[in-house]
Order: sequence, then structure tokens, then C-alpha cells
Amino acid sequence: MRQRFEGSAHLIRLAVVAAAFVLLFLLIRRAVVPAGFGQYGHFRPAALKEIAAREPVFAGREACAGCHDEIVQAKDKGPHAHVGCEACHGALAVHANDPSALKPTLPVPLHLCPTCHEADAAKPKSFPQVASLTHSGGASCVECHNAHQPKL
Ligand code: HEC
Ligand code: HEC
Ligand code: HEC
Ligand code: HEC
Repeated sequence: MRQRFEGSAHLIRLAVVAAAFVLLFLLIRRAVVPAGFGQYGHFRPAALKEIAAREPVFAGREACAGCHDEIVQAKDKGPHAHVGCEACHGALAVHANDPSALKPTLPVPLHLCPTCHEADAAKPKSFPQVASLTHSGGASCVECHNAHQPKL
């Protein structure tokens, strides 16, 4: 018996090292995998509460009425009726909660409008699109269009 294991000390050492690695792996895994992981598959249940607790950055579509009624009404009558204010002005929850806390900077039309309207073969033909450079000749889009009620 003894003779049979005589030359195999290195194998036992290897097995001990391998076992140590497995143990180390299990310890690290225990330390870094968050509680509850696996309960709903590849998802961490506590994330739901953390996300719900965050302060929303968008005010939402109803939030601008009351203070900017004229613009809301003008927009509702034109082709941009379904484009949310914050789609163009960015997230404005801070401003809507307290206008003196943040005065929004106005979007630059030549940058903003082509993000939706630049001609592109991949867009549906029914969507109004223009080749900005030739269409406006470098002039700002709002020289001819009203941003809130763009139909001429
Ligand atoms: C509680 C009232 C109130 C609400 C709600 C509100 N605003 Fe305002 N907004 C103001 C006031 C007052 C000013 C002028 C601020 C100033 O001049 O310092 C202003 C200014 C602005 C300006 C800049 C105007 C300029 O001439 O530079 C923009 C753009 C704007 N608001 C967009 C919005 C949008 C979009 C919403 C909805 C998400 C919104 N506001 C919600 C009161 C409000
Ligand atoms: C399609 C993009 C777009 C949408 C949607 C939009 N805006 Fe604007 N808004 C602009 C641009 C561009 C300007 C700057 C116009 C300029 O430079 O003359 C502007 C200007 C303003 C101003 C400054 C005063 C003025 O009349 O020029 C306010 C206030 C404002 N927007 C509020 C709103 C509110 C409230 C809504 C939603 C009801 C809204 N906007 C929706 C693009 C948009
Ligand atoms: C977030 C995307 C978005 C932005 C930014 C945007 N638009 Fe629009 N625009 C639309 C949508 C959506 C429509 C309605 C399309 C429809 O009715 O099929 C529209 C319609 C229009 C129309 C009417 C075209 C027609 O034949 O009825 C004009 C003109 C127009 N936009 C000009 C502008 C100008 C100028 C700006 C910049 C101030 C701008 N748009 C910014 C989404 C956008
Ligand atoms: C010099 C005036 C002028 C300027 C500047 C201008 N437009 Fe126009 N735009 C027009 C006229 C006029 C029409 C309607 C006739 C037509 O379809 O060409 C129009 C139509 C449009 C349409 C509707 C196209 C369709 O097929 O229904 C869109 C979208 C548009 N413009 C976006 C823009 C954008 C984005 C800018 C800025 C890059 C801009 N315009 C700058 C005059 C202008």
C-alpha cells in the first residue's frame, strides 16, 4: 500500500491545491454575488426597490401645462402634438418642480431638428424628412418653421 503511494506525493499536493482553489472560488462567489440572485432568474430582486427610490429626471407630458399653456395648446394643434416637450428640451423634472432652480437652455434647432428629420432611406417614406443642408441652406430651421407648431 505504502509503496503504491510513494511516488504520488505530487498528485496529492496537486489535489490539495485544486481543492484550495475551489474553496477560494466558493468564498469569493459568496462574497460578491448579491443576496437573492437567482430567485427570479438572472436578476437581483433588491434592484427593484433601489430603482423605484431614484428621483425621476423626466417631468412627464402633463407637467408643463399650467405654466406654459400657450405653447402646450399651440403644439397640440400642430404636427408635433405627439412629440413630448422633453423629447426636444431634455429631462426637466428639476425645472418643473421649481422653475427658479433651473432655467432650461434652449435647444439649437440646426442640431435638434435633423436628429428626427434628416433624410434617410431607412425611414418610412411617410415620415417628413429633408436633406437639411440643401433644404435650409444653413439657415436655422426656426427662421421658417415654428418649433412648436411647424406646419407652414
Ligand atoms: C411651475 C411653473 C413651470 C413649470 C411646471 C414648467 N416651467 Fe418652464 N419656465 C417657467 C418659468 C417661470 C420660466 C422662466 C424662467 C426664467 O426666466 O428664469 C420657464 C422657462 C422655461 C424655458 C426657457 C425659456 C427661455 O426663454 O429661455 C423652457 C425651455 C421651459 N421653461 C420649458 C419647460 C418644459 C418643457 C416644462 C415641462 C417639462 C416646463 N418648462 C415646466 C415655469 C415653469
Ligand atoms: C420639436 C421640438 C420641440 C418640442 C416638442 C417642444 N419644444 Fe419648446 N422649443 C424648441 C426649440 C427649438 C426652441 C427654441 C426656438 C428658438 O430658438 O427660437 C423652443 C423654445 C421654447 C421656449 C422658449 C420660448 C419660446 O416660445 O421660444 C419654451 C418656454 C418652450 N420651448 C417650452 C416648451 C414646452 C412647454 C413644450 C411642450 C408643450 C415644448 N417646448 C415642446 C423645440 C421644441
Ligand atoms: C423627437 C423627434 C422630432 C424632433 C426633434 C423634431 N420633430 Fe418635427 N416632427 C416629428 C414628428 C413625429 C412629426 C409628425 C410626423 C407625422 O405626422 O407623420 C413631425 C412633423 C414635422 C413637420 C410637419 C411636416 C408635415 O409635412 O406635416 C415639420 C415641418 C417639422 N416636424 C419640423 C421640425 C422642426 C423645424 C424641428 C426642430 C425645431 C423639428 N421638427 C423637430 C418629430 C420631430
Ligand atoms: C428658408 C425657409 C426654411 C428653412 C430655413 C427650413 N425650412 Fe423646412 N420647409 C420650408 C418650406 C417652405 C417647406 C414646405 C415645402 C417643402 O416641402 O419643401 C418646408 C418643409 C419642411 C418639412 C416637411 C417636409 C415634408 O416632406 O413633409 C420638414 C420636415 C422640414 N421642412 C424641416 C426643416 C428642418 C429640419 C430645417 C432646419 C435644418 C428646416 N426645415 C429649415 C422652409 C424652410
